[in-house]
Amino acid sequence: MSASRIARAPGRVNLIGDHTDYTGGLVLPMAIDRETIVQVEPSAAAEVHLRSADEPGDARVPLDVDDPSVLQPNWARYVGAVVAEVRPTHGWRGVVRSTVPVGAGLSSSAALEVACALALGAPTGDPWALARLCQRAEHRAVGVPSGIMDQLASCAGVTGAALLIDCHLGSVTPSPLPPPGELEVVVVHSGQARTLAGSAYAERVAQCAAAEAEIGPLRLADPDGVERIADPVVRARARHVVTENARVRQVAAAMATGDVVTAGRAMDASHASLAGDYAVSTPVLDALCDRLRSRPGVFGVRLTGAGFGGCVVALCRPGALAGEGWVVRAVAGASVRDAPAGE
Ligand code: GLA
Repeated sequence: MSASRIARAPGRVNLIGDHTDYTGGLVLPMAIDRETIVQVEPSAAAEVHLRSADEPGDARVPLDVDDPSVLQPNWARYVGAVVAEVRPTHGWRGVVRSTVPVGAGLSSSAALEVACALALGAPTGDPWALARLCQRAEHRAVGVPSGIMDQLASCAGVTGAALLIDCHLGSVTPSPLPPPGELEVVVVHSGQARTLAGSAYAERVAQCAAAEAEIGPLRLADPDGVERIADPVVRARARHVVTENARVRQVAAAMATGDVVTAGRAMDASHASLAGDYAVSTPVLDALCDRLRSRPGVFGVRLTGAGFGGCVVALCRPGALAGEGWVVRAVAGASVRDAPAGE
């Protein structure tokens, strides 16, 4: 049997590039200093049995699990979906602990999937392959056709840098951030739990597919092409994707020269596009962005992740949003190591 293992996987915040990954577009997330840790030891039972230090109920998943989406408690679905992807050859038991807030849009589910996959023996060394495995697990667990960004950011994080990811090519280019003494990335929870995120998300994916059926891949489209789309709602969705890809490039370029003012303006424009053309914001998120934006030393604010509630992300001078949320740092991607007996 294998040795005991400890795997860690960070959550992520997306600086810009939302609802672009599932059309092979550009995103600029960073892995953050909030992480999920899965510690396991081999067991003779034909199951993966994890308890959570933070959530009630144990996850007990048979090694031959068929449909993980029906497992209870809810977090067991992600464990079960990873078991279905990795298919460990013997049982494991252990514990999960996490500092990634659940349901906030900081990819707690991706962090759980990636940490579980590594703990259960998924191959290391190719972040893209590991992210794909965990993306398939996410689809199995909750049936939402989500993109690759969350899992890839957790797998491929780089200390001190955001990640410019081309979701079509699978390329990850570190985009170094100004040092924390010059610029802070602050995450603020709106207090609004994400609702309807699954069904509205799937609807947006379908609308993008409809746009692509009409004008070809959105990642290659230009603004004029978008305006030829007949249906006004599909046209608006496509306009968001095409303009958002351009804004991701703009922010990555601005970060490279330390031009945080330009980066912040693009983040504000991203929020307006997500709220207007893509219709994934809420009045609560809009009001929070407006309030934070009016504070001195704030360069830009936008919703982050899928929308419909959850968190916003701000770029600001150090201390400008003290007491409002969490200052996050960019950290290295997921890792696994053997755990010496008794650790
Ligand atoms: C969720 C999905 C990601 C991505 C974002 C929106 O976090 O899991 O794949 O589509 O929404 O950018």
